[in-house]
Amino acid sequence: MKIKKAVILAAGFGTRMLPASKVVPKELLPVLDTPAIQLVVEEIAASGISDIIMVISRGKGALLDHFAPAPELERFLAQRGKHELLEVVRKTSTMARIAAVEQREALGIGHAVLQVKEAVGNEPFAVLLPDDICDCPRPCLRQLMDVAEEREAPVVALMRVARAEVSKYGIVEGPQIAPRLYRMTGMVEKPPVEQAPSEMAIIGRYLLPPEIFAILERARPGHGGEIQLTDALLELARRGDLYGYEFVGARYDMGDRLGFLTAQIAYGLRHPQTADKLRSYLKSILS
Ligand code: G1P
Repeated sequence: MKIKKAVILAAGFGTRMLPASKVVPKELLPVLDTPAIQLVVEEIAASGISDIIMVISRGKGALLDHFAPAPELERFLAQRGKHELLEVVRKTSTMARIAAVEQREALGIGHAVLQVKEAVGNEPFAVLLPDDICDCPRPCLRQLMDVAEEREAPVVALMRVARAEVSKYGIVEGPQIAPRLYRMTGMVEKPPVEQAPSEMAIIGRYLLPPEIFAILERARPGHGGEIQLTDALLELARRGDLYGYEFVGARYDMGDRLGFLTAQIAYGLRHPQTADKLRSYLKSILS
């Protein structure tokens, strides 16, 4: 499983973050000063992948603009000797090669993945959901690539969640076979609490084989009437090995108010320009 391409699914309406996401694609909403989608592109680049395919929908062209060169801005910064900022801006267009594919109808994550069939071709690939920001000592995607290279099989990222939260996630089942590593035997998209097979949830990082496309082509609508990637993964697990890896690190759900807020606080408590003052502020309001 040598992965050379990564797919970012960014076609959703972002309804959970309205009205902020009405005009601005929710993936451009920042953690401090950096759009969430840039953090995801940085994770991909840090994992050693430089080819990215972004699945977008109408009205979300700003996502591509963010990663395009900005000659006027760059000239302006260069003329004023603002070299650090110039580097910050240049990095956005040099980090990776980004191509886009349009998803014309909002028919679900599985349907979004199907849109990159031609662009990916007959090779394994990574899928990332940019709502999930992973803050890890070793990039989350790289952790999955280590597993896939060792096991020669597809793998998805897992995280343990509270029982009360299972109906927000794809929930998996299967035996643990090594530290943090599980062999997947079952999975269900957003089950009611009483029907959840475990508290292990799929997080938006997947390494998939090209066979997933044929499975998705035949897929029927699942949870919410949408073509679900989770259902296709279950089919994949039935055909051969599929692993789940409980990644090392933290995850923030940027598509959710609380997740958005906790991401700002976590990154703010680390950023040299905000850490000390934010810590004192939090202490003062909590005491
Ligand atoms: C998606 C997936 C779900 C997964 C989740 C992780 O759901 O369908 O299986 O657990 O991402 O964030 P969404 O949050 O897009 O509804």
